[in-house]
Amino acid sequence: MRKIVLFASVAVFLLMGYAFTGVAADHSYVGVGKCKMCHKSKAKGDQYGIWLKSAHSKAYETLASDESKAVAAKLGLEGDPQQLDECLSCHVTGHGVAAELLGKNYKVEDGVGCESCHGPGGDYWKSSVMKDREKAVAAGMIVPDEKTCVQCHNEKSPTFKEFDYEKMVAKIAHPYPDKAEKKE
Ligand code: HEC
Ligand code: HEC
Ligand code: HEC
Ligand code: HEC
Repeated sequence: MRKIVLFASVAVFLLMGYAFTGVAADHSYVGVGKCKMCHKSKAKGDQYGIWLKSAHSKAYETLASDESKAVAAKLGLEGDPQQLDECLSCHVTGHGVAAELLGKNYKVEDGVGCESCHGPGGDYWKSSVMKDREKAVAAGMIVPDEKTCVQCHNEKSPTFKEFDYEKMVAKIAHPYPDKAEKKE
């Protein structure tokens, strides 16, 4: 009897572990266009417009440049950098995830999009979830910090020099206007 109970609890434990990791990894990518719907108003800080002007929105386009071809060639890689896993891993959002997790509005051309830093938005993009930070985080939203950046800004980047978080995060700042005023 005790053996059966033990076996059953081990099985339940394993199942829970499976369910937990399954859920945690299963949020789908909705693409920048979805975030744009609610985050492009000037009054609220136009996070979309700021991102669009940043280097991140051009990270995929960059892989088509002569400089990129030279970078790849120097590493002994053959082929178009826009097709190489060795480059796409940091130059687009969600590279390498299961195809069914890429929503119909996901575009590789968007490069390093919102969800590269804030996490896949499939379960947090709805207003009712988004406006409650705790709910949003539980649904997969990430409040990014230095650890988020160094997933890509590290010595595995062929053009890497250094990463100074304070300096770099200031360059991509897209706060709500009320917060921006408080800092001044
Ligand atoms: C349907 C509208 C809507 C969509 C779509 C949406 N958001 Fe939001 N988001 C909000 C609202 C509402 C808030 C709460 C603050 C506010 O009132 O602007 C918010 C807040 C946030 C915050 C700040 C959270 C915090 O507590 O610091 C982040 C980050 C964010 N959104 C990212 C995203 C990203 C990334 C996407 C796309 C995957 C997205 N949002 C899509 C409406 C939306
Ligand atoms: C998914 C990978 C990825 C993540 C995560 C990421 N970046 Fe980047 N970042 C890039 C790539 C790729 C470029 C180069 C884009 C280009 O020029 O085509 C870049 C460029 C930049 C630039 C412009 C280059 C410069 O030297 O001025 C800044 C600033 C920057 N990132 C800051 C950050 C910060 C801050 C974070 C974290 C909050 C972050 N990045 C997270 C991939 C990433
Ligand atoms: C580990 C993540 C990572 C990988 C892998 C990676 N990159 Fe990058 N790439 C970045 C980041 C971050 C930046 C911006 C800061 C820097 O240079 O480190 C960048 C910048 C660049 C730039 C300079 C863009 C500019 O603004 O001048 C080029 C060109 C480039 N990458 C090409 C490539 C090519 C080609 C590959 C594949 C052979 C590749 N990268 C692989 C992360 C990566
Ligand atoms: C390169 C990483 C990166 C990308 C890409 C990015 N963000 Fe952010 N975002 C951050 C960081 C870092 C913060 C500041 C987090 C904090 O409050 O400490 C932030 C904060 C925010 C906030 C809250 C602002 C505030 O004042 O609290 C919103 C809303 C937001 N991002 C929306 C977006 C949207 C929408 C996109 C795409 C259009 C986007 N972000 C793309 C890194 C990123």
